[in-house]
Amino acid sequence: MIDLRSDTVTLPTPAMRAVMAAAPVGDDVYGDDPTVNALEARTAELLGKEAAVFVPTGTMSNQIGVRAHTEPGDLVLIDESAHIVRSESGAPAALSGVTLKPLPGRGGVFTAADVDDAIEPEHPFNPIHLESPARLLCVENTHNGGGGTVWSLEQVQAVCAAARRHGLATHLDGARLWHATAATGVPEARFAAPFDTVNVCFSKGLGAPVGSALAGSRELVARARRFKQQFGGGFRQAGILAAAALHALEHHRGGLSADVASARALARGVACIDGLELDLDRVQSNLVRFRVTAMQAGAFATRCHAGGVHLLPQGESGVRAVTHRDISAPDVERALDIMRRVLRAASRSQGRSGPCN
Ligand SMILES: Cc1ncc(COP(=O)(O)O)c(C=O)c1O
Repeated sequence: MIDLRSDTVTLPTPAMRAVMAAAPVGDDVYGDDPTVNALEARTAELLGKEAAVFVPTGTMSNQIGVRAHTEPGDLVLIDESAHIVRSESGAPAALSGVTLKPLPGRGGVFTAADVDDAIEPEHPFNPIHLESPARLLCVENTHNGGGGTVWSLEQVQAVCAAARRHGLATHLDGARLWHATAATGVPEARFAAPFDTVNVCFSKGLGAPVGSALAGSRELVARARRFKQQFGGGFRQAGILAAAALHALEHHRGGLSADVASARALARGVACIDGLELDLDRVQSNLVRFRVTAMQAGAFATRCHAGGVHLLPQGESGVRAVTHRDISAPDVERALDIMRRVLRAASRSQGRSGPCN
């Protein structure tokens, strides 16, 4: 099976398992785990921040970030299709008691003007206590729901400057920030610099089995640690997991540009298959989103699965494919071949002319 559902399906390598087995460990709740401590220090260094805290998931990392910046009743500005909005099970409301104000991003990217528009200007006729106080701006880079879109440094700097003008803190959901760097050559620390807190994940394209981290100032990370504990994320001999993440940072991070190249190859192939539609400009990292016009996306995904390629259907016509370290160049060609065969069979059964190649 060529599994293109997500880069979270990547499996730990034998070398990674070996370092996990040999990792020195201690009780992380007491701050005693040397491998967790080493991972936190290395992550903070890579992101140019003072400190970092290791947590089980990207969702927890985002949520302790949101909680650390806000109090119940506050307003959080965020793109409408962000992971925090769509796929964290209502956690900002449930855990932090905040309201999300969705911004109209294009491929997940919004502008400083969108931030300005979302903030009600003060005026003596409008009692200020009617508003939820806007406290936080969140950005996602790369943007999953937008199709792996990469925010440029200039775009990030512009929205963070707007946030500062309005007195907002800033959080980056950089679950796949590593891929933004692989795609652009801009170091992670430069992308992270305008933000107060940054979430990064080790369990996606980097290939570690578990784990994310929240980085920021010493003070903010200390506050976030309290919410890590409150949200049930205090773990003990977690060095076994941190060892995998450290190994991934040192040995897998440099190879992520191969995922970007595979995604481009896959996208170019998809773009020339009759019955599929894709905007090549939107393929900027390791995610490939396209539309099926010849049949329902669900039926397409089921038939592709039967043929040996696992894709994620999204809605009536959308499909997501994600390239990762366990997908080779021949896998991409095979996946394209399976998609072509599925569509050819469908068009034959509907008496239509076949796909272009
Ligand atoms: C952009 C983004 N943020 C956060 C997460 C959450 O990570 P986790 O699945 O580790 O909770 C994901 C997961 O896919 C994601 O794509």
